[in-house]
Amino acid sequence: MQDTWNEMEQHIAVCTQCPLSQTRRRPVMGRGDRHADLMLIAEAPGGQEDQQGMPFVGRSGEVLDRLLHDCGLKREEIYITNILKCHPPGNRDPREEEKEACLPYLKYETFLLKPRIIVCLGRVAAQRIISPDFKITRQHGTWIYRNRCALTATYHPSAILRDASKYEIAKADFCAIAKKRAER
Ligand code: URA
Repeated sequence: MQDTWNEMEQHIAVCTQCPLSQTRRRPVMGRGDRHADLMLIAEAPGGQEDQQGMPFVGRSGEVLDRLLHDCGLKREEIYITNILKCHPPGNRDPREEEKEACLPYLKYETFLLKPRIIVCLGRVAAQRIISPDFKITRQHGTWIYRNRCALTATYHPSAILRDASKYEIAKADFCAIAKKRAER
């Protein structure tokens, strides 16, 4: 199994399926426990992530770590990834064709991981993974079930950086996620 993950990473490292391969510094692979039952999916690496090649190492990573800590979750026990593995210049929203080009990697990660719970961080991930008309303000914290996997969404940490009042809302969602995770 380790070999399969490594093979996927080798593909991503040299991927030229979309023009972001020309502007990225490094692709950003998913990180964390490859046996985790909980998978977080965000939209795309930011500038810091592009420099370091790891997801959520910048300011939004600090917010994410606080949320996890406040709900008794540990980064090393979960798996965190993005729809796009490469940074969109200027942090713009991912384009349709970029998402489609990158999606096979996310599908393969999900196939290898087989998570029990998937959490979409933010609108872009929720609309691509849960439903195209997903409204994060109204539907965050709600659950749907697909192939024995529970899916939900909450605010993206960068939305919390823009509006601190969203922290408590996201924290309540994360604590409900931790509770669901403890259910067997
Ligand atoms: N924002 C994202 O969506 N993903 C990261 O990895 C970092 C910031």
